This record gives sequence, structure tokens and C-alpha cells, in this order.
Amino acid sequence: MNNNQLLLLANNNELAKYIGGMRIMSAPFLKIENLQVSIEGKEILKDFNLEIKGGEIHAIMGPNGTGKSTLASAIMGHPKYEITSGSVHMNGEDVLEMEVDERAQAGLFLAMQYPSEISGITNSDFLRSAINSKREEGDEISLMKFIRKLDEKMGLLEMDESFSHRYLNEGFSGGEKKRNEILQLLMLEPQIAILDEIDSGLDIDALKVVSKGVNDMRGEEFGCLIITHYQRLLNYIKPDKVHVMMQGRIVKSGGYELAERLEAEGYDWIKTELGIEDERVNQEA
Ligand SMILES: Nc1ncnc2c1ncn2[C@@H]1O[C@H](COP(=O)(O)OP(=O)(O)O)[C@@H](O)[C@H]1O
Ligand SMILES: [Mg+2]
Repeated sequence: MNNNQLLLLANNNELAKYIGGMRIMSAPFLKIENLQVSIEGKEILKDFNLEIKGGEIHAIMGPNGTGKSTLASAIMGHPKYEITSGSVHMNGEDVLEMEVDERAQAGLFLAMQYPSEISGITNSDFLRSAINSKREEGDEISLMKFIRKLDEKMGLLEMDESFSHRYLNEGFSGGEKKRNEILQLLMLEPQIAILDEIDSGLDIDALKVVSKGVNDMRGEEFGCLIITHYQRLLNYIKPDKVHVMMQGRIVKSGGYELAERLEAEGYDWIKTELGIEDERVNQEA
């Protein structure tokens, strides 16, 4: 490309788009440093550190009450969770300075442990406006393209077509809600996803389908954090790194073999090894 062409591009505002596109194509990077989170004055997370890059799948495992969901909610900006110190950066940008919708626009996605039901908005309307809120004005997804994509992803997740016309999560069973969270993941194509207990309440067939959805996203442009307290899910979505959370922080990290050992031996050996009596947050005193 010569200089004249470059100038033309710049004048057309095309260059900005081109550079913008390249930035989006580069591997995403979520960095959590020394995060400290309180709820109603009670400290839940302390000195929490984690880095997730595109192409990586991390799993956080841990018994109940160790702060896993608190981590997910704090990163997504739930107002109840007060960040008392530390930082969260996405591709170098300060996530904690962003509004909740800006976090989604920046490429973060959270599948909730308990998704809320929203009456009056159909699943399909919700997905379409969520997709469009991530795009520039005037560059909205066409109805045809949207429907084609929705059909494809619902097919992959073996979801009945009727779910697109139902109100968001209203009357969905636990398993249907989880499947619907993965539908959102596939439709929104975030750069970094945090999936909180996406496996709870799923039978083995649903577990396989949900895993297929997540595995379908795998690639250099996608990083994922799977939060679970069962090893079972990790048979289907094999993580690159496994972290164990106790007392509101990561106490042990390793590869897939760590998940296998937890499956075989439970969590007690870690508690013994580290001299932890009670793994829950705020119980150590
Ligand atoms: N919204 C909340 N209000 C009050 N306490 C909370 C809230 N969310 C979490 N907690 C407390 O924080 C601790 C960790 O909970 P949570 O993050 O849900 O753990 P996990 O997901 O690992 O089971 C628990 O003691 C829990 O009672
Ligand atoms: Mg939880």
C-alpha cells in the first residue's frame, strides 16, 4: 500500500476501522491483581491474583463458601461487592472504571450461577439487542444474519426453537437456564468469559451439550474461566490451568492433574498441606 492510498483510507475513516479491527483480533488478556472485595463491610476476597490470556481455559475449584461467586460478581461490577483494593485490567484497560455495560462491550462475559428471569423480553430480542449494543451505530446485525446465527447456535446446543420466543429464563428449568447462558456466550462471542457453576443441576447429557458449546469457542481470541466445585465438568472441558480457592484466595495452582487428584482425594489433603482448618472465608479467626 502506498502513501496516497493510506491517506485516502485515513480520510475515509477506513484506517481507523482497519486498526480497530486489528486490535480486536489480537489475543485478549485479563489481569487481576491483589484484588480485595468486601460485602457489607465483611471482607470476602483478599489478595486475589490471576491472569487469563486468549487461548487459555482456567478452572477455579473450591468448596462452597470460599468466595468463587464473589470473584465473578466483583469482576462484572455487581454494586453489592465493594472493591477495597487491587485492580482488574482487560487488554490493558481498567475494568473497575467501566460501567457494567462497558465491561460487556470491552469483551467480558459472565454466565451467572443463578441467572435472573426477565419477563416481557423474549430471549431472541434480548440476544439481538445485546449483540447490537457491542456494535457501532449503523452497523447493527441484520435480522437475516441474526436469525441464521441463532438457528445455528441453538442447533449446536440442541435447544428447541421455541426457546427463542420465550421470555428470558422465565419458567426455564435449572438446566435450561444453564444452556441458555451458553447460548448467550455463543451469540455474543466475548473475548473473556467467566462461567460460574455452569454445571450445577445438569444431567450428563446436558453437561455434554454445554461443554460442546464452550469447546466450540476455543481459540486464540477466547479466554475462559470456569468456576466449579465438581471435577466432572472438567472431563469435558479440559482446562490448561487449575486453581484451588480457599478463604477468598487461590491457595494452589497446577495443571489438569490437580483436578484429577481433587477428584480422587477431595480437598482435605490441601487443607492439611497448607494448615488450613476451615476453608470458608472469614472463618479462620
Ligand atoms: N450478596 C451477599 N451478601 C452477603 N454475603 C455474601 C453475599 N455473597 C456472598 N456472601 C458471603 O461471601 C462468602 C463467599 O460466598 P460465595 O462467593 O458465594 O462463595 P462460593 O461461590 O465459593 O460458594 C460466603 O460467606 C457468603 O455468605
Ligand atoms: Mg458460588
